[in-house]
Amino acid sequence: MNVLGIDTSCDDTGVGITRDGRVVANVVVPQTALHARFGGVVPEEASREHLEVIDSAVADALTRADLTLADLAAVGATYGPGLVGALLVGLSYAKTLAWGLDVPLVPVHHLEGHLAAAAAEPPFLALIASGGHTALFRVQAWDDIAELGHSRDDAAGEAFDKVARLLGLGYPGGAALSALAATGDDHGVSLPWPMQGKDTIEFSFSGLKTAVAMLLQRQPDARPEDVAATFERVAIGSLVEVTLRAVERTGLERLVVAGGVAANRLLRRAFDEAGLEVRFPPPGLATDNGAMIALAAHQRLLAGGAEPGSATTVMTDAVPYQPLAGAAG
Ligand code: KG4
Ligand code: ZN
Repeated sequence: MNVLGIDTSCDDTGVGITRDGRVVANVVVPQTALHARFGGVVPEEASREHLEVIDSAVADALTRADLTLADLAAVGATYGPGLVGALLVGLSYAKTLAWGLDVPLVPVHHLEGHLAAAAAEPPFLALIASGGHTALFRVQAWDDIAELGHSRDDAAGEAFDKVARLLGLGYPGGAALSALAATGDDHGVSLPWPMQGKDTIEFSFSGLKTAVAMLLQRQPDARPEDVAATFERVAIGSLVEVTLRAVERTGLERLVVAGGVAANRLLRRAFDEAGLEVRFPPPGLATDNGAMIALAAHQRLLAGGAEPGSATTVMTDAVPYQPLAGAAG
């Protein structure tokens, strides 16, 4: 069964194809350069760019998979969460394509796509930390996914990007900030620990980001590498602290980590040291892409018992949890 998946939730146009649950094409058209000059994603620009490239991205994915449209058994697309205008482009495209081909359309929750990309067998705990979302899930089975908690404000990657910007490191700046941090003193300045003393499965990064901005105003001569190192220690330390609390509460010791922040070396080291069985999605599937949406759609089709290639089915009722407030992006 060949499934095409589309993700246009934020600033990358992702189109992927799976054959019997294996990724055979994964085309991502990034918009990083387009948004870099604004220092963040401009929603209207993102929507227009998705519209511009989606047709050729689909054609490219089909060529790479050595397939034609007639070979597709279903079309999956992210229905949320994300930038509304951007989502509309991918979802409308997918709807039209599914209708035209008379195959099922499978709306996929964006975060379920990230989970499907991990290729891990449930049950497991999943931490998704990217520029748009930071949340923890218990995946008991593919049709039994519960969110345990998310960020009250900024996503982890967003905080990295904002602090990187304050330090003049460009956008997106997470990786550059982490590289600078490696050369600094991680106790070189003083920053507050997020959610100090709160025994909850929740994250918060906006106070930390504001604390960095205020510190730079107060101490303009603070060494940037020390600010970066201290910020990284606290931000990653807080992510790890809350995740380990979730491990303790659920008893699940298998952990899937997805999203751009999963690349962070402190994060990887901390989970290794905690002795957890950690899985990272393969390169190319860790950040936003369409193949993960095809994988999730494939699983949904199998779970729903839908006959591939039969009548058009809009499987909105099969979605087990609703778009998650605060985890959007
Ligand atoms: O999942 P992702 O590629 O996509 C979006 O959210 O759009 O995540 C990108 C985020 C950015 O905020 C970036 O700064 C962050 O991941 N990131 C990192 C690192 N590499 C990328 N954050 C911390 N440490 C890194 N090494
Ligand atoms: Zn994402």
